[in-house]
Amino acid sequence: MDRECALVTGATSGIGWATACALAQRGAVVGLLGRRREKAEGLAAILREIGGEGIPLPADIGEPRQVEAAVAKLVAITGRLDTVVASAGMAFAGSIMDITEEQWSRLMRVNLDGTFYTARFTMPHLLKSKGTFTAISSDAGVQGAPGYAAYCASKHGVIGFVRTLALDHGPQGVRSNVICPGMVETPMSDEAMASYSEAERTFYRSNVPLGRFGKPNEVAKAILHLTSEDASYSNGMVYSIDGGSTAGYFFAS
Ligand SMILES: NC(=O)c1ccc[n+]([C@@H]2O[C@H](COP(=O)([O-])OP(=O)(O)OC[C@H]3O[C@@H](n4cnc5c(N)ncnc54)[C@H](O)[C@@H]3O)[C@@H](O)[C@H]2O)c1
Repeated sequence: MDRECALVTGATSGIGWATACALAQRGAVVGLLGRRREKAEGLAAILREIGGEGIPLPADIGEPRQVEAAVAKLVAITGRLDTVVASAGMAFAGSIMDITEEQWSRLMRVNLDGTFYTARFTMPHLLKSKGTFTAISSDAGVQGAPGYAAYCASKHGVIGFVRTLALDHGPQGVRSNVICPGMVETPMSDEAMASYSEAERTFYRSNVPLGRFGKPNEVAKAILHLTSEDASYSNGMVYSIDGGSTAGYFFAS
C-alpha cells in the first residue's frame, strides 16, 4: 500500500476519535483499536463517508495477545505501519487510602502496560517505515494531581517510557513524542466534572489562563503536526496542550 497507515488506540472516543478523523483526512488508512467491536465498525463506516478509510480492530489494550493480534491484522491488510498514536486510557479519582490494589493494577494495566504493549508490537513495523510513535500522557504526567494517585503515577510513567523510546529508537529513525493535554472536553473529562463539587469545578475552570477547556480537535491537530515531516526534528518531546494551566500558579481574577 502506498498510503500512510496509522494505528490509533482508544479510537472510538474523545481525543482518539478526533485524531483518527484528522489522520484519515490527511489520507491515512487508520486502524481503529477499541474495545467495542460495533462502535469501531460504525466509526469505520463514518470515516468512509468522509472519504477516509478505517479498519476496526476490537481489542482490550490491557491484554497483550489482543493488542498483538490487532497490530498483526492491520499490517496484514496494509503491509505497513507509519504512525502510531496511543490514546487509550482510563481515569478515576481516589487517594491511596481510597483505592483498592485491584483498581491500582487495572489502571496501570490500561494506561501504562497498554502503552508498552502498543509500542512493543508496533515498533518492529515503525523501524521498517521510520515512522512515529505518539502517546497521550496528561497534565497529571508533569505535576501532581490531588486525589488521582494512580492516574498521576501512570501518566508520569508514560512520559519516562516515551522519552526512553526516543533515545532507544531515535537512532534507528523512529521519532517518539508524548502529548500532555490539560482538561479537554471528552466523555472522560465530562464524567470527572460531573463527579466534582461546584467548588472543584470552579477551581478547574479558573486554573486555565486561556479561560476554557480544550477541544479534542485541538489535540488532534498537534498530533498531526508531530507525526508529519514538519516535525522531522522533534523526538522525545513532552508537548503540553493545556491552555497554560501547567505554566505556573494561576487563578483567574
Ligand atoms: N480528556 C481530558 O481532559 C484528558 C486530559 C489529559 C489526558 N487525557 C488522556 O487522553 C487520552 C484519551 O482520553 P479521552 O479524553 O479521549 O477519553 P475518552 O474516555 O473519550 O477516550 C478514551 C478511550 O480509551 C478507550 N479505552 C479505555 N480502556 C481501554 C482498554 N482497556 N482497551 C481499549 N481501549 C480502552 C475507551 O474505550 C475510549 O475509547 C487518555 O489517555 C486520557 O488519559 C485526557
